Amino acid sequence: MVSGVLGSGGSGERQKLSLQDVAELIRAGGCPRVLVMVGAGISTPSGIPDFRSPGSGWYSNLQQYDIPYPEAIFELPFFFHNPKPFLALAKKLYPGHYRPNVIHYFLRLLHDKGLLLRLYTQNIDGLERASGIPASKLVEAHGSFASATCTVCRRTSPGENFWADVLVDRVPRCSVCTGIVKPDIVFFGEPLPQRFLLHVVDFPMADVLLILGTSLQVEPFASLSEAVRNSVPRVLINRDAVGPLAWCPRSRDVVQLGDLVHSVEKLVELLGWTEEMKDLLQRETGKAGC
Ligand code: OAD
Ligand code: ZN
Repeated sequence: MVSGVLGSGGSGERQKLSLQDVAELIRAGGCPRVLVMVGAGISTPSGIPDFRSPGSGWYSNLQQYDIPYPEAIFELPFFFHNPKPFLALAKKLYPGHYRPNVIHYFLRLLHDKGLLLRLYTQNIDGLERASGIPASKLVEAHGSFASATCTVCRRTSPGENFWADVLVDRVPRCSVCTGIVKPDIVFFGEPLPQRFLLHVVDFPMADVLLILGTSLQVEPFASLSEAVRNSVPRVLINRDAVGPLAWCPRSRDVVQLGDLVHSVEKLVELLGWTEEMKDLLQRETGKAGC
């Protein structure tokens, strides 16, 4: 006698889910391991442009640099030819210039409640760390400014040395061999940090996947969205439908289109966390909204 297959990971017909359904599942304790993937869209409410939004994204605003095409800013051959465009972008992201926003603090609340399995971020602005999420819960898939490496002798140095030069518009040079020093940000074609390998254990374990503020255009990060089990609800919160959730949707996908802050506030409300969110924001920012 075959029984109990539907709803437990089998391949039968499944009911379409809404954001409310997912919130209720989480509230009821049905999703104790929440996995999160984020991109530059979550930092736009902090005032940091994303990359690909037409008009406002970094890639639309590089005209002042002599750069052949936008992605060259993250390519090693161009960096060796002219590191200044990347260093100018880095200077804008100097820690402390920007503060985490309500979306980062929503993720922090997930962690405080013991629900955050891991947060995979493509962002290099450090705002996930700044929101108080511990390093053990983070995978900074495209690296960070916390350390830097000489592009010639591979000597590593703390990020502070790099900032001392960048803040006065000087190209950072290695004290040993005078090679250009590059912060440990992953450029196109470079390997991702070792911690990215955690995806091998995290994604099969997840009970729900939240995807926030990314165009899912950059690999291998984008394909992580397909690494959760088929039975696992995937919730995309973004301005547009993107990646595998747009061109190869699954029956338990939830696509919440529109402004991220608005959608996250709605999710917080559906979860019944509005008061706790307010308290957290007040504690962390000293004011009710941010
Ligand atoms: P993108 O700029 O490609 O995508 C950001 C997504 O967020 C887009 O789909 C936007 O529509 C959406 N978005 C932005 N602001 C929003 C808002 N307020 N409300 C709702 N949606 C919003 O950024 P990423 O996907 O993060 O590489 O880009 C991936 C990688 O490409 C980056 O990590 C970067 C770049 O090359 C490195 O930094 C090494
Ligand atoms: Zn060196």
